[in-house]
Amino acid sequence: MMPDRQPWGARLGVRILLAAILVLGVGALTAWVVALAIGPAIFHEHMLMVETSNPDPEVVKHAEEAFDASWQLSLLLALIAAGVASVLVSAFLARRIAGTLNKVRSAAIQVAQGVYSARVPEGAMGAEFTEMISAFNRMASELDEIEHTRKRLLSDLAHEMRTPVATVDGYLEAMLDGVAAADSEILTMLREQTDRLKRLAEDVSLVSSAEEHRLSMESQAISVAELVSVAQGQARSFYAARDVDLQIEEEAEEAMVVGDRDRLSQVLTNLLDNALRHTQPGDQVTLRTGSDSATVLLSVEDTGHGVAPEHVPHLFERFYRVDTARDRAHGGSGIGLTIVRSIVEAHGGTVRAESRGPGHGALFTVELPRHD
Ligand SMILES: Nc1ncnc2c1ncn2[C@@H]1O[C@H](COP(=O)(O)OP(=O)(O)OP(=O)(O)O)[C@@H](O)[C@H]1O
Ligand SMILES: [Mg+2]
Repeated sequence: MMPDRQPWGARLGVRILLAAILVLGVGALTAWVVALAIGPAIFHEHMLMVETSNPDPEVVKHAEEAFDASWQLSLLLALIAAGVASVLVSAFLARRIAGTLNKVRSAAIQVAQGVYSARVPEGAMGAEFTEMISAFNRMASELDEIEHTRKRLLSDLAHEMRTPVATVDGYLEAMLDGVAAADSEILTMLREQTDRLKRLAEDVSLVSSAEEHRLSMESQAISVAELVSVAQGQARSFYAARDVDLQIEEEAEEAMVVGDRDRLSQVLTNLLDNALRHTQPGDQVTLRTGSDSATVLLSVEDTGHGVAPEHVPHLFERFYRVDTARDRAHGGSGIGLTIVRSIVEAHGGTVRAESRGPGHGALFTVELPRHD
């Protein structure tokens, strides 16, 4: 144990005791000097004021000696009692403080060794200790969460890469063995897989940058109408090809937001892309805008597949897909909504998802601070 190796004078208990003895010493010395300087003089004066006209000097001398002996004895006894009390109190305090500090120290050592589940039990040592312990525990639980996310991210990433890499590998091997020819159909397929890997790398890097608050973003005033028209322009042909009706309902054309034009357009593009993927021909998707004095609302609502309530809270998590097989078959890696949330939060906004359940469509609402 580290405290045992500490030099004697560096121990907390010894320091508290020395401090107590110092206070005691100063108090006792002051009391002694003051008593010595003024006590006998006052007593002597009082003795001379005794009613008998001529006090016997012998009686006065005895009385004064008795006075001296009694105040010195009282002071000495008080000093001994205070000395014993301060040793006991110092030892008690030191034990309790050192006990608490030791608990924090061993938890910190555990955290340093990567055991992020280590926590310090809360004691009754007073507000400052409680605050220190709860700050420590908060730090440990944040680290725990970061570590958990890091592990999951790595395994999800490996999982996402495996399929396209295996596909590319399979085709290349077939071509090398002469089983397949490098015709345009196969080359297109290879290209699709490498595109998917490229997009995955870009998406992951974007989300990581955003989470570390180092997303490079322009900061300019953009009108809501402009964002809508860019997104609509990009989506129009895909919607037409799938026969899904894209409605625009604008109630905030003149409202402005501040931020990165391309990234904010990407938010709407991702939402419109999801809505298109989860609707059938004949369904309808509505891109709506609205505003009040402080916020701008952008929402994308569809009449498509919808989402079961148990999945709704997880939609914005990295690599989360409701129907893993089907959503992946659509080419999705489940990172689109994470990007949406990262971008929106980097702009000081929020995003939420709602659905009345499978078959009843979904609604995604983005709220951004309004710029005047
Ligand atoms: N409009 C929607 N209707 C129903 N489900 C949706 C809708 N939008 C998203 N989802 C569900 O949320 C999941 C996560 O969406 P997200 O955009 O993050 O990933 P993705 O679309 O699968 O892949 P990516 O966007 O990375 O290409 C989707 O896989 C889908 O299951
Ligand atoms: Mg998506």
